[in-house]
Amino acid sequence: MGTHAAACGIDFGTSNSTAGWLGPGQAAGSSLLLPLEDGKPTLPSVVFFHAEPEEGHDHVSYGRAGLADYLAGHEGRLMRSLKSLLGTSMMDEHTEVAGRALQFRELLAQFIGELKRRAETSAGQPFTRAVLGRPVFFVDDDSKADKRAEDTLAGIAHSVGLKDIAFQYEPIAAAFDYESQIPPGAREELVLVVDIGGGTSDFALVRLGPGLAGKADRRDDILASGGVHIGGTDFDKYLSLASVMPTLGLGSRLQGGLEIPSALFFNLATWHTINLAYTKKAWAQLSELHRSALEKDKLERLQNLVRERAGHWLAMQVEAAKITLSDAPEAVMDLGRIAPGELLTLHRPDFDAAIDGLVSKVEGTVITLLRDADIAANAVNTVFFTGGSSGVPLLRERIAALLPGARAVEGDRFGSIGAGLALDAARKFS
Ligand SMILES: Nc1ncnc2c1ncn2[C@@H]1O[C@H](COP(=O)(O)OP(=O)(O)OP(=O)(O)O)[C@@H](O)[C@H]1O
Ligand SMILES: [Mg+2]
Repeated sequence: MGTHAAACGIDFGTSNSTAGWLGPGQAAGSSLLLPLEDGKPTLPSVVFFHAEPEEGHDHVSYGRAGLADYLAGHEGRLMRSLKSLLGTSMMDEHTEVAGRALQFRELLAQFIGELKRRAETSAGQPFTRAVLGRPVFFVDDDSKADKRAEDTLAGIAHSVGLKDIAFQYEPIAAAFDYESQIPPGAREELVLVVDIGGGTSDFALVRLGPGLAGKADRRDDILASGGVHIGGTDFDKYLSLASVMPTLGLGSRLQGGLEIPSALFFNLATWHTINLAYTKKAWAQLSELHRSALEKDKLERLQNLVRERAGHWLAMQVEAAKITLSDAPEAVMDLGRIAPGELLTLHRPDFDAAIDGLVSKVEGTVITLLRDADIAANAVNTVFFTGGSSGVPLLRERIAALLPGARAVEGDRFGSIGAGLALDAARKFS
């Protein structure tokens, strides 16, 4: 590896992560993103701890390999959506992985360390400086918790060997990526960047143009930024609670007429709390509920799910169905693993109804942003969409309807933030 202290951009995402840099002599227009797994530029933000590692195999696997190990039925613990824990009290708690108590912050450090190592291997170059992306708000309406989240991420970055770091809002990074593709001679434009990811929806209202791209200080061109802690993982959760968890007993009754407690279903429908459903206490509670349940077949599916540690498997089925619903009117889920031979069909209107409240909040965030910046909707020339969840039709339609005069431009859904952070890193650290 070379010894030059190069700078990279790191997009640690709730669902997917990327890293990029402006390598020496990099051709304009070529991808700035570094391959991180099997030649692909994304590394799913996944850690899987093997309870019984086989001879010659690692204790820990990451990304697609981690998902595959979990799905292949290896004993162990899967972690996803770790970014959602930043700023919460869970950060300092311990979780048992492979017989050891680990703090969530150590888990995060393990993932980010791996991300950095892979980026370095790919670049053939160590990185000690980085621009890290961050959502406009890690935590909604709580500036102290938000600050704590950023401090935690900074501490983790230092602990894995990044000496100089700077943060950049993810939607601003996406704006730089878009700007790098504007042809020379094009007119300046007012752009609303819309980044709907796995954990958060982030927005920036920016003035972009070929003549502005070289400016060192862009503060004057950034008219506003905003965001809300709603993203694809919430869509998964609401779809699951509306359409899938009821088949496992949510909303059903116990003898005596009471409704079954919902906490377990909420844990299972939420990516970062799935493992809480596997405690001894939860199992004992479930056995008791089964005894007094009126619809025992539903509770049996739930018991199968918990016994098989299939919570993430189910969440992945729900996520896959959600993605199918972006392009098709219905999606079929195979529940075979917990209910042999059973299929469940989900329909687009049901998904739209399940996420309607979330979409209204995201819409409200855009309305507030425009109002606070004192920008009329018809002054926006372009809406730049990025982030995996920008594929959700209801959300796109509702945002596009707010800006009737703007043309829509599609970014690289999973790569724009990382590429923009790479550009920002080159600018900030060169
Ligand atoms: N075609 C699609 N339609 C709807 N949702 C999709 C589609 N493709 C991916 N997603 C969702 O996009 C999300 C991941 O997007 P992305 O990789 O941009 O998030 P992230 O950057 O990891 O999260 P964040 O930026 O919020 O931290 C997941 O929730 C995934 O289910
Ligand atoms: Mg993102």
